[in-house]
Amino acid sequence: MSRMYDEVVTVVENRPLTGGHFLLSVHSPRQARATRPGQFAMVRLPGGLDTLLRRPMSIYDLKAAVARTSVGGAKSRVAGHRPALQRQRAPEIIQLLYKIVGKGTRQMAGLRPGDRLEMLAPLGHGFFPEDYLAEARADDEVLHVAGGIGIAALLLAARELAGQGIPQRLFFGGRTKEDLVGVEDFKPYVRATVLATEDGSRGHCGFVTQPLEEYLLRNRNKKFLFMVCGPWLMLEATVKLAQKYRHRCLVSMENRMGCAIGVCLGCSIRVQGTGHGAYERVCTEGPVFWAEKVVWGKERMSRVRGI
Ligand SMILES: Cc1cc2nc3c(=O)[nH]c(=O)nc-3n(C[C@H](O)[C@H](O)[C@H](O)COP(=O)(O)OP(=O)(O)OC[C@H]3O[C@@H](n4cnc5c(N)ncnc54)[C@H](O)[C@@H]3O)c2cc1C
Ligand code: FES
Repeated sequence: MSRMYDEVVTVVENRPLTGGHFLLSVHSPRQARATRPGQFAMVRLPGGLDTLLRRPMSIYDLKAAVARTSVGGAKSRVAGHRPALQRQRAPEIIQLLYKIVGKGTRQMAGLRPGDRLEMLAPLGHGFFPEDYLAEARADDEVLHVAGGIGIAALLLAARELAGQGIPQRLFFGGRTKEDLVGVEDFKPYVRATVLATEDGSRGHCGFVTQPLEEYLLRNRNKKFLFMVCGPWLMLEATVKLAQKYRHRCLVSMENRMGCAIGVCLGCSIRVQGTGHGAYERVCTEGPVFWAEKVVWGKERMSRVRGI
């Protein structure tokens, strides 16, 4: 795990996107430089008791700042989407892609350039201890599979893999076309994007696992590495496909969290093992796990006891 920093950071931009999604850019050079793909931040908003807890957010992207960041400036100071430039200049800006679902995220949506907030980051271990990369290099293609805001966990990984010349493909599903945010950001890194919406407003009509299975059937002779993030049911369905077609699968979990530093055990999930070894904390041992390590189905509902 890389070093984490507890910082007061300054909002550079909070851009509204479709369907209640926002892209929040904050100036935080130390946290940005320490971040690895798959890690997350805990954002604490000022305000009443119900927003006292920090909210976990995947670190979506890292950018260089194009001009000196000073509090309260009106124009955007985030470098545009230029992958070559990103590699040359040290990142200073952390971007969080989020969706309004409750009080905390609604409050985030009200942030303006120059506002300050507390942020603990980077947290968790990312996608790339060496064995993940070795696995990705050995496979024919990495398949990113995202459900809704789960897309936020995958962009940095896609960029890192592209830098290593590893072929990739994105399968992305949402309820409606408004949920399919960030697709353009992936395009420089993936061979193709396959979209699905439950209402049929964009791409395949239905769940994203349907075109995914068709692709797996058409390519039975190939070896894929899945990288998946999304709601639990979508994770489970994707893991089942990975198991059925014998591909390895990494899942990034988005459990509710309390402390995010391994103390409260509130984020524990059931994993293969017995006794104390049957549980791991998403915040510190995750958020990324090999799918075969996680206990899926009804078994997962067994309560955390004795730890
Ligand atoms: C490691 C990690 C990374 C995450 N990355 C992102 C991200 O990049 N972008 C993003 O928008 N969200 C992300 N989330 C989820 C995000 O933390 C929650 O949506 C947020 O905390 C909700 O806060 P709230 O106060 O707005 O909602 P609350 O008022 O606390 O809850 C509103 C509704 O959202 C549901 N909810 C709250 N937290 C979660 C959760 N973790 N998973 C599913 N449902 C939840 C509640 O059950 C409730 O129905 C991530 C979560 C984790 C653990
Ligand atoms: S959130 Fe407290 S241990 Fe993970």
